[in-house]
Amino acid sequence: MISIDVALGTRAYEVRAGSGLLGDLAAQCGARLRKRVVPIVTDANVHAAWGAVVAASLAAAGHEAAWRILPPGEGAKSWAELAATVDWLLGLEVERGDHILALGGGVIGDLTGFAASVLKRGCHFIQLPTSLLAQVDSSVGGKTAINTPAGKNLVGAFHQPALVLADLDTLATLPPRELAAGYAEVVKYGLLGDAAFFAWCEGNAAAVLAGDAAAQQHAVAVSVAAKARIVAEDEFETGGARALLNLGHTFGHALEAATGFGARLLHGEGVALGMVLAARFSAARGLMPGAEAEQIAAHIAGLGLPAQLSDLGLNVSGDALAAHMLHDKKVDAGRVAFVLMRGIGEAFLTRDVALPEVSAFLSAELMR
Ligand code: NAD
Ligand code: GLY
Repeated sequence: MISIDVALGTRAYEVRAGSGLLGDLAAQCGARLRKRVVPIVTDANVHAAWGAVVAASLAAAGHEAAWRILPPGEGAKSWAELAATVDWLLGLEVERGDHILALGGGVIGDLTGFAASVLKRGCHFIQLPTSLLAQVDSSVGGKTAINTPAGKNLVGAFHQPALVLADLDTLATLPPRELAAGYAEVVKYGLLGDAAFFAWCEGNAAAVLAGDAAAQQHAVAVSVAAKARIVAEDEFETGGARALLNLGHTFGHALEAATGFGARLLHGEGVALGMVLAARFSAARGLMPGAEAEQIAAHIAGLGLPAQLSDLGLNVSGDALAAHMLHDKKVDAGRVAFVLMRGIGEAFLTRDVALPEVSAFLSAELMR
């Protein structure tokens, strides 16, 4: 098992990643589980795969799991599910000192974390991430949110978990497409600040996606360590460091919006193609060598992830895609935030990009 500290002073916590953590859940949580009944929010897929393991571990330690099982998918990040989840927790008489467990992917972590942040003005919660995306990104750092008709993740709070337990065994039941989409957030850490890790990814991504335990553990460990460092430096995304985690996200968000935020293009797939576009846009601006941008595209494409805008079969213009970027929540005084690259491992944040330049670039990519 690996253990990584997220050094946030009074809000500091530990991320543990390894095999068998869910089977050992009660011991891993220790005194944080103060009462017999333990509230756990999950979704139906994760419950089917891991509910029995979790319930048995808790029962062996004298606890009883109280389940809230949501329908899988992004739809659970809604006002309605938030309200129902908070009411359910109130019905269980959860107190501020109790810990609520979030067992699932980023959807469950984001919703449960937000519910914990508003319940009685803030309760503890423990992240039990079961998707690769959640293990390397969303369970660490305390961003919680729901979606509204106006857009994704527009309502939420910073609320750090008390503990993160990433059981690597759960990746074995994750659908392969979800595993690949989550991998995009792994390679992101290489591209934004660690060229040596990108080189490791080039050599080992196939093993990660094939279920190689050692490769998966290394990928999660390096990713969590990078995220923990960045979050400790810039918890509330005010200093510039945390914004680098949005590499590929401004382009990706526009693609997700154009495809309806659904199964047509998963979040991680949008980020994968978004990182290729950010690299090609950086190259087009003369910031990074074109050969490095194509090296990134080749890596992404080699894993079966989308690397060409034209492959999405979108019936939109470059202007329409660029217009989606204005709805990104990082827009400041009308300027869109872009994370661009000077090379592999050298990302930087800029608002010095005019949208017509992006539209023209996207129009060319749509024809490529
Ligand atoms: P998800 O939670 O929808 O999980 C993906 C799918 O995999 C779901 O169908 C789920 O039921 C299933 N699943 C998860 N773990 C499984 C397992 N071990 N076995 C079988 N099935 C399993 O999606 P995700 O990709 O994990 O997360 C995406 C969400 O995360 C988005 O809402 C995004 O906005 C959010 N996000 C948040 C942050 C953050 O910092 N808070 C960062 C990145 C993404
Ligand atoms: N996933 C981006 C962040 O946590 O800041």
